[in-house]
Amino acid sequence: MTPRQPPLFWVVIPAAGVGSRMRADRPKQYLQLGERSIIEHTLDCFLDHPALAGVVVCIAPDDPYWPRLPCASNVRIHRAAGGRERSDSVLNGLQCLHELGADACDWVLVHDAARPNLAREDLDKLLLELAGDSVGGLLAVPARDTLKRVGADGRVLETVDRSVVWQAFTPQMFRLGMLREALEAALETGVQVTDEASAMEWAGQSPRVVEGRADNLKVTRPEDLEWLAQRWHADRTQ
Ligand code: CTP
Ligand code: MG
Repeated sequence: MTPRQPPLFWVVIPAAGVGSRMRADRPKQYLQLGERSIIEHTLDCFLDHPALAGVVVCIAPDDPYWPRLPCASNVRIHRAAGGRERSDSVLNGLQCLHELGADACDWVLVHDAARPNLAREDLDKLLLELAGDSVGGLLAVPARDTLKRVGADGRVLETVDRSVVWQAFTPQMFRLGMLREALEAALETGVQVTDEASAMEWAGQSPRVVEGRADNLKVTRPEDLEWLAQRWHADRTQ
């Protein structure tokens, strides 16, 4: 029997956010993690993969940092314009893939620029588990802590059943055509979608969750980068 092969896939990296919660002197994707910037680490996992068809990064038009990185001249990385919201950036990335010749049925993996610790084993698991799926899905992690619903006065209203709650991570993997239609429809009606799965849900689809590693962390606040930097140094000195 021939081993199962992961399908060919495209990647869109939205990287046009300002990182307001990070309160740094530049957008968080350009902060250093060891010797390189966060976005360079993020790109590594995909560029190393034999089934990768190409990558699009969505960069704010006035971004002075991206052009200075060595990867800006990598011929496998294409640049699209960032938009006002994350979903606008992703839509521009999908349009760029279309112009590059990607097919509506091709798989697209959307992955946050600020999520630099994606493990290759998680990427392969996502690709293999969703290869034959009619909708697609996302890496996610079951909620670990006890969850509370809290009122405006800062007091607990109730404890939420955590057994049915998952944290949505990226990559999120959908077919180019279906994802584009879902994002455009959401945008037209003014629905706020913070990830691609929400747009698909809004379009009536049920994305599948694929359990991933909890350390596929998105850098959101300063302590996230401190944690990742400690991990990075510990791995290098082992
Ligand atoms: N993003 C984007 N275009 C936007 C907003 C966000 O491409 N208009 C990207 C970010 O660069 C990031 C990813 O979407 O890689 C996830 O968003 P988030 O963590 O919210 O990043 P920021 O919006 O930059 O951070 P903040 O919300 O703290 O300002
Ligand atoms: Mg944001």
